[in-house]
Amino acid sequence: MAKSKAASGKSKVHSPGVNIGISEKDRSAIAAGLSRVLADTYTLYLTTHNFHWNVTGPMFNTLHAMFMAQYTELWNAVDPVAERIRSLGHPAPGSYAQFGALASIPDAPTVPPKAMEMVRILKEGHEAVARTARGIFSVAEQAGDEPTADLLTQRLAVHEQTAWMLRALLEE
Ligand SMILES: [Fe+2]
Repeated sequence: MAKSKAASGKSKVHSPGVNIGISEKDRSAIAAGLSRVLADTYTLYLTTHNFHWNVTGPMFNTLHAMFMAQYTELWNAVDPVAERIRSLGHPAPGSYAQFGALASIPDAPTVPPKAMEMVRILKEGHEAVARTARGIFSVAEQAGDEPTADLLTQRLAVHEQTAWMLRALLEE
């Protein structure tokens, strides 16, 4: 089959041969949104692993183990998000500079906070990723992009459940 020329020279991003029934405009919008989800997820992964290393106090055993379960889940989540961006014909961001520019959540504090402050920061992080994911859900849905909608649904369930568990820890 003959290779078609790039549809447009306007974009810096070339997506030769992507013909999956989602317009280039929608694929660009969804990939941009997923890039923000990826940046948030990676940033939250790193903060959670940082807190696994640096947590102190009487809750050490519980939080050290809980943070490990959480960072492992987040680490496993970045790959399907990045690969969905690639499936839509766009490059996946993968540098600290790009993640810093795209993320809605801040980097981990330089000085390790107290244990319960760590829990509060992670709870806010999971809520922030949920808001980022929810923000692009309607775009994916309206574009008929079921794989992205399914991925976002799975990520929303995880982040909202984790935020609840962290909120529960913060309650007296
Ligand atoms: Fe460890």
